[in-house]
Amino acid sequence: MPYVLGIDTGTSGTKTVLFDEGGSPVSSATHEYPLYTPKNGYAEQSPEDWWNASVNGIRDVIDESGVDASEIKGIGLSGQMHGLVMLDGDDKVLRKSIIWCDQRTAAEAEEITRRATRERLVDITANPAITGFTAAKILWVRNNEPEIYEKCRHILLPKDYIRFMLTGEYATDVSDASGMQLLDVPKRDWSDEILQKLEIDRALLAKVFESPEMTGKVTKKCAELTGLAEGTPVVGGAGDNAAAAIGTGVVKDGKAFTTIGSSGVVFAHTSNISIDKGGRVHTFCCAVPGAWHVMGVTQSAGLSLKWFRDNFCWGEMETALQMGVDPYYLTDKAAETVPIGSNRLLYLPYLNGERTPHLDPNARGVFFGLSSMHKKRDMLRAVMEGVAFSMRDCAEVMREMGISVSDMMACGGGGTSPMWRQMLADLYGCPVKTTLNKEGPALGVALLAAVNAGMYSSVPEACDAVIKPERVQEPVAENSAKYEKVYALYASLYAVMKNSFKDLAELNI
Ligand code: XUL
Repeated sequence: MPYVLGIDTGTSGTKTVLFDEGGSPVSSATHEYPLYTPKNGYAEQSPEDWWNASVNGIRDVIDESGVDASEIKGIGLSGQMHGLVMLDGDDKVLRKSIIWCDQRTAAEAEEITRRATRERLVDITANPAITGFTAAKILWVRNNEPEIYEKCRHILLPKDYIRFMLTGEYATDVSDASGMQLLDVPKRDWSDEILQKLEIDRALLAKVFESPEMTGKVTKKCAELTGLAEGTPVVGGAGDNAAAAIGTGVVKDGKAFTTIGSSGVVFAHTSNISIDKGGRVHTFCCAVPGAWHVMGVTQSAGLSLKWFRDNFCWGEMETALQMGVDPYYLTDKAAETVPIGSNRLLYLPYLNGERTPHLDPNARGVFFGLSSMHKKRDMLRAVMEGVAFSMRDCAEVMREMGISVSDMMACGGGGTSPMWRQMLADLYGCPVKTTLNKEGPALGVALLAAVNAGMYSSVPEACDAVIKPERVQEPVAENSAKYEKVYALYASLYAVMKNSFKDLAELNI
């Protein structure tokens, strides 16, 4: 029987999953690694840790499944986007990877805008200069660690370092490359204009492939180390969100997904490229050849609820422990007793600034309308509603861009809450579904490998065969009408507070 392997190099760990030809997981292993924060705002990881986690994960899934390695017909790679891996002329890692959530590059983002202009950046890379994207990290190393930049011969993204170790090839895929701010997103290749303006040598960059294309084969050395068969094909793969799209079947116009993890993502597929001139959402190439996706990111989604739980819900956490249930089950139950609008209490989820739609690192969280009648359960519901409103903000930008969403999947920890899903359905005005398949990005890239192996004729065909919806929540018109009124007030609040957020950031006390 043919099998395919998906390896997802995430931020907390690497998840390796072996799937059978029907897309069912046969064995799975997760290996964690540390996140280094040497200074406030810095976030780094060691590429060697990622590789060790992959080697251990591959060995585990082969051993556990008892599958003969020659039956594994392909490998797909997924991972956290934007991270910078630098190799020297002997392919040695030059420094720890500066990863996606690192915030050290404000000056470099300004430098990029100065050199390339905001207008050309948006036209070519489909985004204004963003601190988290790889280009700003490359410039930071050049400006602050010139001796390292001098020695750098190859620049790779996190999952592409794993590819290099598996195959010896320096390659990437269009979806992940889109997050470097060096790709001509409409043309799906590196932009000579941006590279010239930033004075980055194209030879440093990997070769760009479409996601289901073969990029190389497992080497003899790697086969001996991992137990894989020499010559196993490794396909382009995808950045984690583009991979999750495949793993949830979001591969056609009208389809989208919402992730409520620590951060929140609203991701919509589009077969016609569409770029927001205001840069409020990211436009990236997607893993379906010839198509794109538009993605809004809200910084503190699940994180808002976790913050509230950790600081104010000790009693619920204690009770949950005694009952053997998830504390979020109890917080959901408490919030359910509160009517829509949380008794006139609103929450703005800007605990760590906001990306979509405000692009404002100074924005901060707000409870608006607190009264002596409010209880903790009102605040809990207000937090959940505020997060759902911020996801609606992302969907609104997409609507303005002419991307209509009629079919929404829900993913991430928050996506398992029926109450949160109902809020989303009521606010989007469309059904919100979950899938039976829970392997997300790892499944997505394994399906890309299955397409390359000829097990399916195209990515949409693979998704139609494998991805099965589980629960559907329909919007309730009466709820939607109430939420519309609260959302309108929510949407007006940021503009009123924008200058005060800046004053707060600059407050000298
Ligand atoms: C996408 C983004 C994150 C990372 C880490 O723009 O910053 O989703 O890929 O998961």
